[in-house]
Amino acid sequence: MDLTFDFDQRIDRRGSGSYKWDANERLFGRADVLPFWVADMDFATPKPILDAIGIRVEHPVLGYEFRSESYFSVIQNWLRTRHQWDVPREWLMFCPPGSIPGIQAMVDVLSEPGDSIVAPTPTYGPLLRSAGQNGRRLIRNPLREVDGRFELDLDDLEAKLEPSTRLVMLCSPNNPVGKVFTSSELRGLAKLAESHDLIVVSDEVHCDLALPGHKHKPYGQVGGERSITIISPNKTFNTAGIPQATLVIPSAEIRAEFQKYLDLMQLNHDTTFGALGMIAAYSECGPWLDALISYMDANHRQAATYFSENCQSVSKVPAEATYLAWLDFRRTGFKQNEIMDRLVNLGGVGLYSGTDFGEEGDGFFRMNLACPSAMLQEGLEGIAKALK
Ligand SMILES: Cc1ncc(COP(=O)(O)O)c(C=O)c1O
Repeated sequence: MDLTFDFDQRIDRRGSGSYKWDANERLFGRADVLPFWVADMDFATPKPILDAIGIRVEHPVLGYEFRSESYFSVIQNWLRTRHQWDVPREWLMFCPPGSIPGIQAMVDVLSEPGDSIVAPTPTYGPLLRSAGQNGRRLIRNPLREVDGRFELDLDDLEAKLEPSTRLVMLCSPNNPVGKVFTSSELRGLAKLAESHDLIVVSDEVHCDLALPGHKHKPYGQVGGERSITIISPNKTFNTAGIPQATLVIPSAEIRAEFQKYLDLMQLNHDTTFGALGMIAAYSECGPWLDALISYMDANHRQAATYFSENCQSVSKVPAEATYLAWLDFRRTGFKQNEIMDRLVNLGGVGLYSGTDFGEEGDGFFRMNLACPSAMLQEGLEGIAKALK
């Protein structure tokens, strides 16, 4: 069997400098928790990526590098074949050294201190914090819960806009709730952006991880010149240690402003391994990704079934994308810190508190399912034990 496709294999990551496995003591107060928190996978990174790095290391000089033309064509090809999105070469901008610096750069380039920024919440922490940390104000726009699922609340968004609102920070698909936004939700947002002079920054680093039956729609396909879309192979192919991201910017004016920023910060060179990893990922790892998505689909079903059969005080929000599960603990009757304490000290499991994604996450925890199903089972049993 080809081991790169063996998602059942348990790989011991302890002692490898893994944030997920080696920082438990710092985060949870004890080293022995089984970790289901930070968003990387316990699976081997696909072999073509490891091979590309191995071959490069045979050359002993790791100096500055420039981007090959294939760098751009593999991104274009990936977007065309996976997402049916034809993107001209000049829209693709370098985003060093990863997606978060790219988001911060957009806040700097496209708004002024004192301006406000809207974020549909709950959302990925750095998107939430991007406003406050830059002297801008965050306007929260809670996703609307309808029959246990979440959707954009555009009426609320429009009602909260201020003359100083410049940006919308969208996380699409949404981390943590695992929502794939529909074309009609995205078109509604694009209409608001047009009529209220807003730019939408759409963080799509989970875009390749739509689950069977769901299709991700790139915001750039509906948002035009008022869109900035951030893509990355890191979540898709488990390459967070060699960060790499690309901004898709249709507006020539915004590209020129962003280029000035890159020049100012001297962010002109890729990391050798990040670029190589991305080329190998987008050009050779499609079959691995298809196998991963099937495995993730099964893990999502395993978790949902476990809770409904063994631990009914927790329910799992139906996932449409990502390897992250949004777990609803509101029926347990415990407060957030009590649940965390029980999970860690009675259940031996480390999950992210929902409040890390905004106050709307109170009563929820995020569980990372990107692990062998036997490990997932141990985690699910730990959660049930914690609540007894
Ligand atoms: C929505 C989202 N954006 C950005 C990131 C950061 O990704 P990276 O560290 O690969 O740049 C993450 C990581 O979890 C994420 O979930």
